[in-house]
Amino acid sequence: MEAKLPSESRTTLTDLVLPSETNPLNNLFGGELLARMDRAASIAARRHSRRIVVTASVNHVAFNKAIPLGSVVTVEAAVSRAFKSSMEIFIDVWVEDRESGRRSKANEAIYTFVAVDETGTPIQIPPLEPETDLEKERFEAALRRKQLSLVLAGKMKPDEATELKALFEN
Ligand SMILES: CC(C)(COP(=O)(O)OP(=O)(O)OC[C@H]1O[C@@H](n2cnc3c(N)ncnc32)[C@H](O)[C@@H]1OP(=O)(O)O)[C@@H](O)C(=O)NCCC(=O)NCCS
Repeated sequence: MEAKLPSESRTTLTDLVLPSETNPLNNLFGGELLARMDRAASIAARRHSRRIVVTASVNHVAFNKAIPLGSVVTVEAAVSRAFKSSMEIFIDVWVEDRESGRRSKANEAIYTFVAVDETGTPIQIPPLEPETDLEKERFEAALRRKQLSLVLAGKMKPDEATELKALFEN
């Protein structure tokens, strides 16, 4: 299978924060942001694999900054590594300043999607070839994150997580 670039899956969703999507402090609900990130990540995973994709796990979410009512929020998702049937999707969330138009990073998340056939059985996907320094950095760390996710899900023995273990041994 021919390798694909992260830019081929990059997906950008821009939308406003409406009153029905906020908490009592008038900031965006965490669940609403998770849904927006899941949608963007799902499109990125489809663009990479050209298959039906399902969310396998949400590996990391950091709600670093509250996003106020009326904000223009951009969710940017791209495949950061492809394995056999699973893909890690890295998501960056940006908020646009109303006056300057400058974007600042509000949150980030890492999701895992799996490509499946019509019966829901995992299916082989193309590899990913990172290009930029950031893409290479995310690609390198993705294997450790996959191992951690599988260990936490009880699907891998800690002893088998070789690359993850090496982090603590050095
Ligand atoms: C995701 C799903 C297809 C995995 O099925 P499975 O029987 O565990 O299949 P496998 O063990 O062959 O795993 C398939 C791939 O997923 C990866 N995977 C499974 N669980 C994972 C987890 N918790 N974290 C990271 N990767 C995971 C495996 O490592 C494997 O990757 P690889 O093929 O790239 O090496 C299956 O659990 C499923 O359909 N879940 C429901 C998905 C869904 O409905 N999501 C919406 C949320 S409601």
